[in-house]
Amino acid sequence: MGLEGKVKVAPAKGRLGILTPGMGAVSTTFVAGVMAVRKGLAKPIGSLTEMGTIRLGKRTENRVPTIRDYIDLPELDNLVFGGWDIFEENMYDAAIKAGVLEKDLLNEIKDELEQVKPMKAVFEQKYVKNINGPNVKTGKSKMDLAEQLIEDIKNFKKNNNCDRLVAVWCGSTEVYCEPSAVHATLANFEQGLRDSSPDIAPSQMYAYACLKMGVPYCNGAPNLTVDIPAIIELARETQTPITGKDFKTGQTLMKTILAPGFKARLLGINGWFSTNILGNRDGEVLDDPDAFKTKEVSKLGVLDYILQPDKYPDLYANLYHKVRINYYPPRGDNKEGWDNIDIAGWLGYPMQIKVDFLCRDSILAAPLVLDLALFSDFAKRAGMAGNQEWLSFYWKSPQTPDGVYPEHDIFIQLMKLKNTLRYVNGDELITHLGAEYYD
Ligand SMILES: NC(=O)c1ccc[n+]([C@@H]2O[C@H](COP(=O)([O-])OP(=O)(O)OC[C@H]3O[C@@H](n4cnc5c(N)ncnc54)[C@H](O)[C@@H]3O)[C@@H](O)[C@H]2O)c1
Repeated sequence: MGLEGKVKVAPAKGRLGILTPGMGAVSTTFVAGVMAVRKGLAKPIGSLTEMGTIRLGKRTENRVPTIRDYIDLPELDNLVFGGWDIFEENMYDAAIKAGVLEKDLLNEIKDELEQVKPMKAVFEQKYVKNINGPNVKTGKSKMDLAEQLIEDIKNFKKNNNCDRLVAVWCGSTEVYCEPSAVHATLANFEQGLRDSSPDIAPSQMYAYACLKMGVPYCNGAPNLTVDIPAIIELARETQTPITGKDFKTGQTLMKTILAPGFKARLLGINGWFSTNILGNRDGEVLDDPDAFKTKEVSKLGVLDYILQPDKYPDLYANLYHKVRINYYPPRGDNKEGWDNIDIAGWLGYPMQIKVDFLCRDSILAAPLVLDLALFSDFAKRAGMAGNQEWLSFYWKSPQTPDGVYPEHDIFIQLMKLKNTLRYVNGDELITHLGAEYYD
């Protein structure tokens, strides 16, 4: 079904290599998870590409294929994994250290997981202050380091007999950066690489190397990476998809589920206080105020865009929104996120909602890595270059073209994603219009 669609999509033949810069909690939970699913040990819960369906035509037609049957995606058996990290541990050891998945499950896939070993990373302490590791490249300039990454990519593809590659950043959150002159054009950026400009972050070097090689790049952290003009220019030049940023999991996921509901019922909101405790390495990195600033900016935008206080001043103009993250080692990856929401109903009468989400960060993020890898590979095969706004569904801070505000409402995001698939396949878009009234 649908494979002869409106847009010509190259077939998903051969093996797809998924590279993750950063092989910590999220990356190992994703890779170990796919291996466990392949062996029939567990289900890929939370993944649209593995469990989602898509309605076609009128409701009465009862045509609801799985997304997997609807579009051509690689089989999980045809995925190969690799990546880079500043630590030398293989994926089995890294997964044990991350402490997300149970040892019994990891032991069932131990041999396969141990084969995945990190390549030497490009790292600069200035950008991630609270960690340091030995598995790091040295080079004469940042261009030299980027070229080493390009060599890694070529070698990985050849050695693993891959037909195509995609990259999903699962590395740490870097300190907050504003775009500067070196990011303004590709020519400036390449000169900056040759001059080892201090404004070029490691994540930007990975993105540069991937896009140079035509490898789609998904930005799982709130880092300034594929949202700079130089990298957007490179993506267009090499006809490569980019998408970001910052996986939408945990508290922000809850926010983008709840806030559209309050707004739909025109309930006012006076305050939304969010606090988190988490104790994994990500929490340790975010304990640095400069890294937290990057995260905070990514988390704060959500409510403003969903609630549109300029259009609904009586309901949202005075909203006080605060987000806190606290590093608390005893919790490990099992984060706790509290929300206190002060809402207002009829005649302004106040009410309160408390949410206490005992979540597992990497369990929520892992299926997103899988979907992003498969969908950005699909986009590449469909000739969709540059920013993939239809993947906003996955992001806390969706990347948008200049002058366009991001869509944060998760239900609109899902509709946009599915309509994009319908469009590519040449099927009618679903508008939910009750056309029967006009027959
Ligand atoms: N888990 C979630 O729900 C979630 C949600 C949104 C965003 N994120 C982001 O995803 C990223 C990964 O999260 P995590 O929990 O796996 O963190 P983690 O600390 O367990 O793993 C990150 C890994 O990246 C490595 N790293 C850092 N800089 C690197 C570099 N320059 N090159 C290669 N490796 C590098 C670190 O050594 C570490 O092993 C973080 O940036 C986090 O903020 C996670």
